[in-house]
Amino acid sequence: MNWPAGEAALVTGAASGIGLGMARALVAAGAKVALADIDGERVAAAVQELTDAGGTVVGVSLDVTDPDQWVAAADKAEAALGPISILCNNAGLSGGKEIDRTTLDVWRWVYRVNVEAQFIGVSVFLPRFKARGGRCHIVNTASMAGIVPMQRVGAYSSAKFASFSFSMILRDELKGTGIGVSVLCPGTVATRIAVNSGEREAELLGQDADSAAIEGNFALTSQGADPDRVGDQVVEAMQKGQFLIITHRDWEPLVTAVHTEIRQAFAECDDRHGPDVSARYLVQGFNPVAE
Ligand SMILES: NC(=O)c1ccc[n+]([C@@H]2O[C@H](COP(=O)([O-])OP(=O)(O)OC[C@H]3O[C@@H](n4cnc5c(N)ncnc54)[C@H](O)[C@@H]3O)[C@@H](O)[C@H]2O)c1
Repeated sequence: MNWPAGEAALVTGAASGIGLGMARALVAAGAKVALADIDGERVAAAVQELTDAGGTVVGVSLDVTDPDQWVAAADKAEAALGPISILCNNAGLSGGKEIDRTTLDVWRWVYRVNVEAQFIGVSVFLPRFKARGGRCHIVNTASMAGIVPMQRVGAYSSAKFASFSFSMILRDELKGTGIGVSVLCPGTVATRIAVNSGEREAELLGQDADSAAIEGNFALTSQGADPDRVGDQVVEAMQKGQFLIITHRDWEPLVTAVHTEIRQAFAECDDRHGPDVSARYLVQGFNPVAE
């Protein structure tokens, strides 16, 4: 399959980990890539590496939480590479602790980076994709924590749930347009997420980083999957038009437990309120306003 050879992509969080893995895989597949990240030094190193490997890439400075920077980044990327047709909304950070130990500032910061930024990215690129026409693709990086509720990282996990449903809705709304959508739900991947997240959270709180917690989390994630292989998997999924990208089967019993709990609640529902107009509309196409 030739696609995405010759296409131009913008990957956020491309200076490290899974984003860098996606950028490497896209370059290997013949795509041109804009590497967008808040970490200028690491972006420069990644640009050098991929240029040396024969890729056509450009580094773009971007804080994904800033809508103005998104527009500037899109303009810079398109000036350098031509119209972007692939958007990988991948930048993300873990953060927060147990719910009652998470401050509102941290909660909002985690939501802004992990889900609001994906909405901003889509808002900037969707009109460009529609104007350009042809095959386009959006990948949002959620997480297994976006399908399985994860204790002690409640802000992160619930933000990833939002990213997951945002992606499903986007997929449904874009059906038949030529703009594909995928959502990546990785299990553990060996990246710098523990260090990047721990340091930025401490900065936000004006505190010293909790180095013991960072080291513990880093030791755990270091045993995860190879981010380059996850990048390869994402490119394969885009080529196939696959929506949901899962990296580890080990999580299936936990996902099943969530769905069993929901089904059980339906089985126990006594239907005391009778038919629901919105559900009838969505399930049966019945329009309660017209009829
Ligand atoms: N590593 C894992 O185990 C794992 C598991 C599930 C999901 N994820 C998700 O994968 C994605 C990539 O994470 P990773 O593990 O590769 O981590 P990483 O820390 O190695 O890479 C994330 C990159 O995002 C960048 N970034 C952070 N905040 C940014 C901002 N405001 N604007 C622009 N760039 C910003 C960082 O500088 C970094 O280069 C994230 O969305 C993360 O939540 C990771």
